[in-house]
Amino acid sequence: MSQLHKPVLLNEVLDSYSELGANPHLVYFDGTYGRGGHFRAVQQKYSPSLSFITDQDETAIQQAHADWNEQIKSGKIKVFHQNFFDFVESNVGGQKIDMALLDLGVSSPQLDEADRGFSFNKDGPLDMRMNQTKGETAADIINTYDAEDLIQIFKSYGEVPNPARVVRAIVSDRTTKPFVTTLQLAGLIERVDGWQKKGYHPATQYFMALRLVINRELEVVENVLPLLIEQMQDKGRISVITFHSLEDRIVKNIFKDSTAGFLVNKKVIVPSEEECKINPRARSAKLRIFQKGEQPEKPDKFALRRAQRDQQ
Ligand SMILES: C[S@@+](CC[C@H](N)C(=O)[O-])C[C@H]1O[C@@H](n2cnc3c(N)ncnc32)[C@H](O)[C@@H]1O
Repeated sequence: MSQLHKPVLLNEVLDSYSELGANPHLVYFDGTYGRGGHFRAVQQKYSPSLSFITDQDETAIQQAHADWNEQIKSGKIKVFHQNFFDFVESNVGGQKIDMALLDLGVSSPQLDEADRGFSFNKDGPLDMRMNQTKGETAADIINTYDAEDLIQIFKSYGEVPNPARVVRAIVSDRTTKPFVTTLQLAGLIERVDGWQKKGYHPATQYFMALRLVINRELEVVENVLPLLIEQMQDKGRISVITFHSLEDRIVKNIFKDSTAGFLVNKKVIVPSEEECKINPRARSAKLRIFQKGEQPEKPDKFALRRAQRDQQ
């Protein structure tokens, strides 16, 4: 079993399903297998009778096959190399789901392997696709998009207040030498923007913006949640971990506005200081939990007092 990725908010995710109680027929869907940290813990705690795995990253799916060979053969676990949106949209499982998890963003191996092109610290191809078999790479975008489109991407997805100088430099540099590597782009951003915030590489937000656009991360979350809610069992729970404020806002609003269920935790759940110390990548994580069906009425704390007063 791989230990390359530390699962974030693990106990909180496990607790999010505890209301479902002891049920021998639970169906679980993990849309973002990664290295299977959450998946494994859910198997241990709840022993679902049927589980579905998706991940759009081929390496994650190979890992899932290696980890669960026996259970896949027996039909207890079903694995799909797919975007979770495509899986949910086509309702491949044809099953109502009791427990669903989307742990969004990238896994540690994706960030750490220079070849994947996600990291501004490591030299690799300017790629950033989670699914390496299809779609535009970061190099395609940087080398071919208009200046206005690039400015728009960095402003709206990376929340970079003024990306115009960096974009002008990209457009000028690419006429003589197209962008091929991560360090080529990170170096340009460092040269033009400089280090404005301590401990924060100037390329951080630019890389984040490209990643979100290439993998259509916000669009996919916005589209999948209403469909997933439809496919949940009554009282079924969806837990979503986000690492980006725009993504969290989408999740919160869909859960809050849904008439098919309710947002369980009014206050967002974040990792403890201790977890952030052990795993700095947990720092920006936020967990929101949704339950399908009617919200149970809260016990009326004042009912007894009112009844006593009425009797007097
Ligand atoms: C943060 S990691 C998940 C880590 C996992 N929970 C664990 O404990 O190992 C996110 C994973 O989700 C995958 N992913 C992200 N968005 C996806 C999508 N729309 N469809 C399928 N997989 C996705 C990524 O490829 C990555 O492997």
